[in-house]
Amino acid sequence: MSLTCVVLNETAAPETRVAMVPDVAAKLTKSGWRVVVQAGAGVAAGFPDAAYTAAGATVQAKLNNVQADVLLMLKAPTDAHTAAKTALPLSPHGTLITLTKGAGQWPALAKLAPNVLALEKLPRTSRAQALDVLSSQANLAGYAAVLAGVAQFGGVLPPLSTAAGSIKPAKALVLGVGVAGLQAIATLRRLGAAVKAYDVRPEVQEQIISLGAKPITMPETTTPQGSGGYAAALSESAQAALAAQLEAEVAASDVVIATAQVPGKPAPLLVSAAAVAAMRAGSVVIDLGTTTNHVQGLTGGNCPLSRADEMIQTANGVHIIGLTNHPARVARQASAFWAQNMANLLALCVKDGALTWHDELITAMHVVQASQVKEG
Ligand code: NAI
Repeated sequence: MSLTCVVLNETAAPETRVAMVPDVAAKLTKSGWRVVVQAGAGVAAGFPDAAYTAAGATVQAKLNNVQADVLLMLKAPTDAHTAAKTALPLSPHGTLITLTKGAGQWPALAKLAPNVLALEKLPRTSRAQALDVLSSQANLAGYAAVLAGVAQFGGVLPPLSTAAGSIKPAKALVLGVGVAGLQAIATLRRLGAAVKAYDVRPEVQEQIISLGAKPITMPETTTPQGSGGYAAALSESAQAALAAQLEAEVAASDVVIATAQVPGKPAPLLVSAAAVAAMRAGSVVIDLGTTTNHVQGLTGGNCPLSRADEMIQTANGVHIIGLTNHPARVARQASAFWAQNMANLLALCVKDGALTWHDELITAMHVVQASQVKEG
C-alpha cells in the first residue's frame, strides 16, 4: 500500500494543536502509510520535526510536490486559502478530513478539495466513539475550562482546616452534563470543590451522583427528546423560565461552568445577566457555549454576557471567561487524542490497500464528493 497522509502546519490559524503526533504517525507508517508532515506543524504542541522523522514520517517545509490521498486538518481552511489561491496538497481523488463550520462552508471547500469528510457530522454512537474528535476534545475542554476558571478565581477550592482558621469548600455549578460537563465535574471534585450540576436530560443524574456531585432537579422543566442521544431545544419561554429558576443557584456559586448545547442551535440561555449581577465579586463563569455561538456568528453563549476569546469582568466583579479553544491550552494531549481518532478513522477506510468510503460512519461525514456538495 502506498497511500499518502499529509499533515498541515496550522500554527498560523492560530492553533497550537496538530492533527498527527509522532507516536501515531509511527503506527501509520508501520501499517504502510506514507506520512508527510509540514515543517513546524507539531512544535507548538511539543512535538519537534525530528520526532516525526524518527517516527518514519517525512518532514517538508513546502508541500507543492506532494499529492495527499488524505489531508488532515483540525479546522477547515478559510476563505483566505481561496483568495490566495493556495492549493491544498491533494491528489485528484484526495480527501480533506477536518472539522467544518457546517453546510455554509462546504461549497467553498468543494473548490479546494475533491472530497471532504466533515468530522462534526460523525453520529454519536458507541461504535463512533473511537473516531469522535468532538468528544475527545470536549473532554479535555471540560478539564481545561476548570483550570482556567480556578486561575481567575481569587479563592481556594478544597476545604482547609489550619491553625490559622478553616475554609469551607468553594461552591461550583456545572450546567450541561455531556462530555465536557462530566469532565468538569470530575476535575472540580478532584480539586475539592462542592459541586452541583444540572442537565435538561434527567438520565444524567446518576452520573452526576457517581462523580460525587449533587444533581439539581427541575420538575417544572419539560425535557423534549432529541435525536442521537442529544437533548432537543426548549422553547424560548421554557428556556427563559429555566434560567430564572437557576438564578439563585448561579448567584450562590463561586465557579460556574456552562457547557449546555443542542447541536445546530444557539447555546441555550442558562446564566442570565440578572444571575451574574447577583454573584459575589471574584466569582467566575466559564462559558463553553461561547464556542457554539461563535461558530454560528452569534455573540454570547450559555450566558449572554460572554464574548468569544475574551475574559471580561462585570461591574460587580464577576469574571466571565469566553475562551473558544480550551483544548489548545492542553495541546500535547489534545493532539494525541485527535491523532488517535484519525488513525481509527483511517483504519475503517482502508480495504486491500485502497481507500473506501462505504462504512456508514464515513458516509455520514462525506459532505463533498467529486468536488460537489452532496445532497441531503
Ligand atoms: P454534549 O452534547 O456532550 O453536552 C451538552 C449537554 O448540554 C447535553 O448533556 C445536553 O443534554 C445539555 N443541554 C442541552 N440543553 C440544555 C439546557 N437547556 N439546559 C441544561 N442542559 C442542556 O456537548 P459537549 O461535547 O460536552 O460540548 C459542550 C459545549 O462545549 C459545546 O457548546 C461545545 O461547543 C463546547 N466546547 C467548547 C470548547 C472550548 O474550547 N470553548 C471545546 C469543546 C467543546
